[in-house]
Parts: sequence; structure tokens; C-alpha cells
Amino acid sequence: MSASARAHSNIALIKYWGKRDVALNLPAVGSIAITLAELATETRVEFDPHLAADHCQLDGTNVDATRISRFLDRIRARSGTNLHAKVISRNNFPTSAGLASSASGFAALTLAACAAAGLELDRRELSILARQGSGSAARSIFGGYTEMRRGSAADGHDAYAAPLLDAAAWPLTVVVAITENRAKSVDSGKGMISTAASSPFYADWVSAADADLDAMRAAIAGRDFHALGALPEHSCLKMHALMLSSKPALIYWNAATITVMHTLRALRADGVPVYFTIDAGPQVKALCPPAHSKTVTEALAAVPGVQSVWPTGLGPAAQLLDPCCK
Ligand code: PMV
Repeated sequence: MSASARAHSNIALIKYWGKRDVALNLPAVGSIAITLAELATETRVEFDPHLAADHCQLDGTNVDATRISRFLDRIRARSGTNLHAKVISRNNFPTSAGLASSASGFAALTLAACAAAGLELDRRELSILARQGSGSAARSIFGGYTEMRRGSAADGHDAYAAPLLDAAAWPLTVVVAITENRAKSVDSGKGMISTAASSPFYADWVSAADADLDAMRAAIAGRDFHALGALPEHSCLKMHALMLSSKPALIYWNAATITVMHTLRALRADGVPVYFTIDAGPQVKALCPPAHSKTVTEALAAVPGVQSVWPTGLGPAAQLLDPCCK
């Protein structure tokens, strides 16, 4: 009763922020994302009759297993086991700092835990399950370009992600600029609830989402890089305007975050095709065609306050790992 899985982080081009049902973790808006090759989580799950409680280790440290346990309860209920599990997980990037570690983490956990419990689910069901751990995790079940549907059913059976386009069909580089290695202060779940309750712009954000998604689908279908870049910049700045206008304000940026944005806009004014997006954290993700990856990487590495720079291409779907590699 053990299995291991690897899942890759994903970055939303059209952002999800806000829940239509907090208990079921149903998103208020759909989202479109890209899965990243170089940012991954590997997780091993072992159900063990000798355990009196779930145990969870992240990057070599024992961590509070409450959220993982609640998620494993769903898998236990569906598979009929009542065994506790040992979960060992590793990220190859900073955890909880706006690099979507919950996306890759819950996607890897979903695959590994279902396999360990003998639960055979198709990718859509895995995506629905992963969503209940973390909204963005629903998208990391798939590779390349993905879309998360908001759905409208009260039970969430129509809120899942699906692939839009293979990674290889339209290569893209994302250059991640790390400006802070510590975990963020307000996690996205709490932040979203606060925004929905207090930002004066929240209703407008929700009502504009479908138009943003339509435009992004068209940009991907038409391989229109400038639209593919400009739409995420607008979506992310709109999301941060919501965060900034929440009470209390959610300010995820630091000084280097802002300097990186200006650097990228200056590069673009000089003719380099590059745009940015930022999640609920201080890191900036620059989007560019692979031919411009070196220029963008060098420019970001030179920005004061940038601690490291990670260029990555688009990544594959989550997968189970060969038992010999556990
Ligand atoms: O699903 P969560 O709780 O990891 O929230 C994701 C929120 C953003 O990363 C800011 C946006 C998104 O769509 O990924």
C-alpha cells in the first residue's frame, strides 16, 4: 500500500482568486495555466497498519499533518481503507513562497495516495479530488497549457481542469525570479476569503473572468505571443489590485518584485518580447519565447534583491514513479 508520484508546479496566466464554496474549495472564476518543467514535487505515500495517526514530512522536516489528513480522509472514504499514512514529500524549489507548491504538492499527493489506496480514478476525477486539496492543484494533474473550469454545480462535479494544448505544441520559457526565500505570511486560501469579503472590486473581478478566459483561449489557439503575455500581466495586476484593496490589505510584493516589473517593461520597450505574472507571493515569473530566455535570465539575475533565477520550459502531466525509484 505505497506509491510515489511526481507533479509539476503550474503558473496561472488567467488567475483564480476567490471561492464560490469554501468548504468544497470551488473557485469563483475559471483559470488558465501552464505547467512548469523544472519546479516539481515528489511525494511518497504509505498506508501502514502500525500507524496511529498520519505523519507528514516535507523537505526532510516533520510538519503538521492536519491539512494532509483531511485530504487523505477523502481518499480513505472512497477506497474503504481506514489506515493512516506516512507522507514524505520533497520540493525542488522554495515552499509556500508564491511558486505554487500547493499545486504540485496536492497533485503529487493525489496521484500517490490514490495509487497506494488502490483507488483507480481517471484524470478528470483526479483533478476534482486534487482541487479539494488546493484549487490550483487541479491543473497540475495535466501538462502543458491547461484550463480549470469554474463549474456551476453545487457539489463541484463540474469544477475540474482539462488540457488545452500540449507543452511541445507551443514552447515557452518562464524565467522565475526569486526575491524572497521565506514562506509567505498569508496563505492564498485565507487571502481569497478576505478579498471576497472586503475588496470593493471583487464583484467586477468575477464578472470579467469569462471575457479574460475567452481572450486567452483565443491567444493560445492562434499562437499569439503578445496576447499570451499581455493578458496575464493584466490578469495578475488586476488580482493584486484586489489583494491591495482587501481589508486588511494583502501586500505580497517586496521592493525587488517592483524593480523586476520595471526591468521587464523596460526590456519590452527595447524590443524584447517578455511579459510577467505574479502569484500570491513576491516572486516574478517572466514569460518569453525560448529564443529570448538568455537575455531575460541575465537581466533578471542583475536586478538588486533578486536572489536566484530559474528559467524553465513547460512541463508534463503528473505521473506515478517507478517503484524502483521510491
Ligand atoms: O489554489 P491555491 O490555494 O494554491 O491558490 C492559487 C492562487 C494563485 O496562485 C494566486 C492564482 C492561481 O490561479 O494559481
